[in-house]
Order: sequence, then structure tokens, then C-alpha cells
Amino acid sequence: MTTILSGIQPSGTPHLGNYFGAIRQHIRLQDDRAEAFYFIADYHALTTSRDPVQLRERVRETAITYLALGLDPERAVLFRQSDVPEVCELTWLLATVTGMGLLERAHSYKDKVAHGVKPSVGLFAYPILMAADILAYDSTQVPVGKDQVQHVEMAQDMAGHFNAAYGDVFVRPELVLPKLDKHAKVPGLDGEKMSKTYGNDLWIFASGKPLKKAIGRIATDSRAPEEPKDPSQLLLFDFLRLFLDSEEIESWSSRVRAGGEGAPGYGHLKQRLIAAIEEFFAPARAKREELLADPAEVDRILARGSERARERACRTRDRALAACGLR
Ligand code: ADP
Ligand code: TRP
Repeated sequence: MTTILSGIQPSGTPHLGNYFGAIRQHIRLQDDRAEAFYFIADYHALTTSRDPVQLRERVRETAITYLALGLDPERAVLFRQSDVPEVCELTWLLATVTGMGLLERAHSYKDKVAHGVKPSVGLFAYPILMAADILAYDSTQVPVGKDQVQHVEMAQDMAGHFNAAYGDVFVRPELVLPKLDKHAKVPGLDGEKMSKTYGNDLWIFASGKPLKKAIGRIATDSRAPEEPKDPSQLLLFDFLRLFLDSEEIESWSSRVRAGGEGAPGYGHLKQRLIAAIEEFFAPARAKREELLADPAEVDRILARGSERARERACRTRDRALAACGLR
């Protein structure tokens, strides 16, 4: 049985990079005749957040985002990490078989500390909690971005160490990297990688004036529309390619390449991009509004998800406790 699992940081306002680089893959995987578990990593968020009101809001907003974009709670189990406290028990058991050296090699810990995050024990032990998340559900496949590869490898190591000491308790998970297609890296409004940290991101659900304003920020230059240009050198085309079919891209490209009288200028292309984004996310925006108006439904979905997830995590926890002599 294939079991897919991934954790999602409750960032609050997910952007186009998150959508094309992660959320869309998660939602597509639910169609693959496998069971899928997706959780909002609120225990992990405590390593960087100290604002309870904001955290609660972000968790809810993240759940709504996934549901609005097409996650089907009948096919995929969507839940809050902290609703399954068994992962904390597993974290302890795994901590006892994890060498300090393994954690000391974590790039992500070093990066975060270099960026000013307080080096708490929780931040240091973050990969053990993540391994517990992965192993609690007997996951076989873990789709993550490149930045999380080392963490999944650590989970493999921890499962191996525990099993070597106590017998076959944990299933070894495999990594699933996003396909290296044209969406592997979504550029930001300034041309760097889109990231919340760089402030060059565009919220998935932006619409109307704020959307117009954001698209207005996409970097261009001062060349006139008539001047022939190479579309592959234009940041605007990287955005257009996310939303338009290849035929339409080809038609815009050839007009931009030819230049001359009537060739589309940057303003023109930006208008087309705005219309395309409005249309692309229109159903998701509508669904988001519906969910915002019915918080009880979101609570029900998360509660049902937690119940299903917990059942599985309890079984794994019992197996692990028995194996090491605590039961
Ligand atoms: P941010 O850089 O905005 O903080 P995260 O690191 O929280 O984003 O990323 C969450 C997920 O979205 C990860 O799986 C990551 O690979 C994906 N992702 C983030 N930014 C991009 C991007 N610009 N292009 C493609 N995927 C991205
Ligand atoms: N650490 C992951 C991130 O920052 C989120 C996460 C927590 C996760 N637990 C996980 C991802 C388990 C995959 C599997 O994006």
C-alpha cells in the first residue's frame, strides 16, 4: 500500500511558488490510488512563532487554502499536527536513538540560526519531530521540496537505528521530489526566486486592485513596444507560461519577437497576465469564500482528519513502546 505524507508549514498567505512548487503536487497525488495524509505543522511552527492568535489564524487559513484549491477530504486525510500528540511520544523514542552528530549536520538548523532564529532545543530537535511525523503513519512516500531532503534522509536514518535496536517497527519512507518541470522554481516579482522572506511574493488568492498592483511590480525595462525582444529573456513570460496554453504563449512570443507597429508592450502583457490569474484561481477563490463563511465545516473536516490520523499513529506508537520494553 502506498502511503503519501507531507507536512505544511502554516505560513498564512501562500504564494504562487508554494502553489506550483508544492500544493498542486499534493493535490494531484490524492488521485493516485494511494492513501494520502497531509497535516499542518503547528508543533513545528512553534520553533519560530510566539503569537498564539496569529498561529491559530494561519493554521485555519492554511487548511482553507488546501481545501479551496481542491484537496478532497474524502480522499486525503487533512489534519492538524498537534491533534495527534502521539507524534511527541514517538519523538522521544526516536531522540534516544539519534546521535548528536546527525542533528549537528542539519543545514536547515544552521540556516535558520544564521537568519536570526533563536537556537532553542526545539529548533535543534526539529528533524526528530519531523521523523516522528513521517514514521507515525507508516508513510512510504514523502513529497517535499529540495530544502527538506536532508530532513527526510534523517528520518530514514532514525528508522534504521530504531529498527536495528528493536526489530522491524518503522517503515522506511522514500523521498518524492517535485518533477523538474518549468514550475520547479517560480520567480518572484523582482526575478529572484519567489519567497515570503524576500517580500517578492504574490498571494494565490490576490484579486482586483491588489493583484493589479502586484503585477505592476514585475520587473521590466524601458524599451518601447515596437522594439523587437527575445521573450525568453523577459520575466513577464515566465509568469505568463504558468497560466496560458502553449498556443497562446507562441502567439504572444512571435509578436514580441517581431516588434514593430502594434506589437504588445509590457502593459499589454501585464493586463493579459492579470486576466489569466483572475480566471485561473476564480473557482478556488469562490470556494475559499464559502469556507470562510462556514468555519464549522472546516472544523469538522479537521476533526475527522485528526481522528483518522490518530488511529494510525496510536498503532505505531503502541508497536514502538512494546518493542522497547515500555509496554
Ligand atoms: P517561502 O520561501 O516563501 O518561505 P517555503 O519555504 O515555506 O516558502 O516553501 C513551502 C513549499 O513551497 C516548499 O515545498 C517549497 O519547495 C515550495 N516553494 C516555495 N517557493 C517556491 C518557488 N519560488 N518556486 C517553487 N516552489 C516553491
Ligand atoms: N519541515 C517541513 C517544512 O518546513 C514541514 C514538515 C513537518 C514536513 N513535518 C513534515 C514535511 C513531515 C514532510 C514530512 O516544509
